[in-house]
Amino acid sequence: MNDRLFSGIRPTGEIHIGNYLGAIKNWADLQANYESFFCIVDYHAITTPFIPAEMQAKIREMAIGIISCGVDPEKSTLFIQSHVSEHTELSWILSSVTNFNWLTGMIQFKEKSDQHPENINASLFAYPVLQTADIALYNAKKVPVGEDQIQHIELARDVIRKFNFNYTNVLIEPEALITKAKRIMGLDGINKMSKTLNNDISIIDSSDVIFQKLRPAMTDPARVRKTDPGDPEKCNVYLSYHKNFSNEETLGIVREGCTTASIGCIDCKKLLHKGMNEHLEPIREKYNKIALDKNYITDILDYGAKKAKTVASKTLEDVKKSMGLK
Ligand code: TYM
Repeated sequence: MNDRLFSGIRPTGEIHIGNYLGAIKNWADLQANYESFFCIVDYHAITTPFIPAEMQAKIREMAIGIISCGVDPEKSTLFIQSHVSEHTELSWILSSVTNFNWLTGMIQFKEKSDQHPENINASLFAYPVLQTADIALYNAKKVPVGEDQIQHIELARDVIRKFNFNYTNVLIEPEALITKAKRIMGLDGINKMSKTLNNDISIIDSSDVIFQKLRPAMTDPARVRKTDPGDPEKCNVYLSYHKNFSNEETLGIVREGCTTASIGCIDCKKLLHKGMNEHLEPIREKYNKIALDKNYITDILDYGAKKAKTVASKTLEDVKKSMGLK
């Protein structure tokens, strides 16, 4: 039996190229070598403001997106967090071995509290404990995530270590798996790409929309006029996007053109647009095809929840026994 792998994503609706390159592309690449569980974490999504009437559509869109990016539901288990009640149950149990001080140091808690000062609630604070439970239930050894999640995985290791120390050694300490595209910056070149900050390109944006978004995207600030030379290593368009979507030949043309000021930023963006569009077109086509069949996604998510529950309920049983709760 292969080692287990677990990862999750919040149901924000459309997948942007940040979480595609930082996580989901990696999920698709890794599924052949691991017994993989991928979870749409709706209980994490309710820790920040959301619109109830949109929730189901966003979950479905996320599931369609994940499959369109190459996660194969025949190889991997894809499911919705709230369909497997063991997640919240284990989260409560693990909160009893989580030091309050560990949670006060979490960067994501501070960031989300700043974004939503009107709604700093207890679930936002306890969020990393639920994330630990997600991983621990499947005894996952590896957790493919972007850089922003490393602190949460470190916390999960601490919580699990403390649990194993206090009770019997029933849970496995996970390790983060990071890709080279671990932190994709947004089109503003200042913040990490994120749907909330509206600085993103979606994997299903049309060719025209992609170009409209790329046009004003931040480049090397030294290139004010076409005749000003620049440094590709200081250009977000080169670092975050060209490096992931353009082939070696194009990368060479762009580097040379930028340093010698022989091509303008808009020409660089046109070259990028071509590569990005070629990469994303098959994903878009698959997405549009799957979206037509309503039952397909429902069946996959129902089947995934059943498979996940079989594993999760066994772990929870072991945890309860080790604590004298059974
Ligand atoms: P979430 O939904 O914010 O993001 C999903 C995945 O995408 C990665 N990611 C990025 N990678 C590179 N550049 C970016 N701009 C970028 N934006 C997002 C994230 O690092 C993540 O891997 N708490 C998690 C979800 C979660 C989870 C888990 C993950 C819940 N339980 C258990 C792993 C294991 C989150 O909010 O991810």
